[in-house]
Amino acid sequence: MGKITIAIDGYSSTGKSTVAKQLADWLEYVYVDSGAMYRAITLYAIEKGFISETSFDSDKLIKHLPEISLTFVKNSEGKAEMHLNGRNVEKQIRTMQVSEFVSPIATISEVRSKLVDQQQKMGEGKGVVMDGRDIGTVVFPTAELKIFMNATAEQRATRRYKELIERGDAVTYAEVLHNVQERDTIDTTREDSPLRKAKDAIEIDNSEMNLEDQFHIILQLAKDRIAGRV
Ligand code: CDP
Ligand code: CDP
Repeated sequence: MGKITIAIDGYSSTGKSTVAKQLADWLEYVYVDSGAMYRAITLYAIEKGFISETSFDSDKLIKHLPEISLTFVKNSEGKAEMHLNGRNVEKQIRTMQVSEFVSPIATISEVRSKLVDQQQKMGEGKGVVMDGRDIGTVVFPTAELKIFMNATAEQRATRRYKELIERGDAVTYAEVLHNVQERDTIDTTREDSPLRKAKDAIEIDNSEMNLEDQFHIILQLAKDRIAGRV
């Protein structure tokens, strides 16, 4: 059966990566979390002192971009983890500090161009499910299936807050809601590749939907598209 490319875009904490992973497992496709790549570059910028609460030196980051190598390496359970210059940073890239700085970093065209190139290479052979903000519009504009996920900001913040608390992070619901809303604003208003629903994307609002229901709806859409390629 012919393999397709599946692009899943949408707002923060709508369940994109969860459903993308489930789909990739079920279809035996490769899953790529493009947000992890933006987060890893952000961690690099924080560690090098290029971005902080008080300063943001995008020129320095741009100069150092060729030194940054990002790879997904499978752990013993088969889960792909982000490695930054050979170091496993899967846990560090999910902190609130990285969440605070990632959207400003993702406005830099040089950063986007480096990552889009790498993402397009990863999807060359099809059989890929990639989630992010510009996958259906920029990375894979000819993807056979494009999904655009949405949910209320309060519902998304509640989900993300629960996840962070379970991980042991000291955050408040108000901080998480603020971060989700701020990233939405920066991601939708930036000049280069803003978060937009592609014209041919199917929009799914999962505010009132559980993980199982959203998976079954999207899996059916994928099966239909794959059947169309036979
Ligand atoms: O926290 P969440 O899972 O919603 O975000 P993420 O997918 O980890 O992405 C983190 C941030 O990276 C986003 O808020 C965007 O600023 C940026 N991003 C992007 O600009 N383009 C992508 N394809 C993926 C992420
Ligand atoms: O990748 P994205 O930021 O869009 O979201 P995610 O990391 O897949 O999901 C964020 C959190 O919301 C996870 O803990 C999911 O289990 C949860 N979620 C949910 O409970 N119900 C949904 N319909 C979607 C996501």
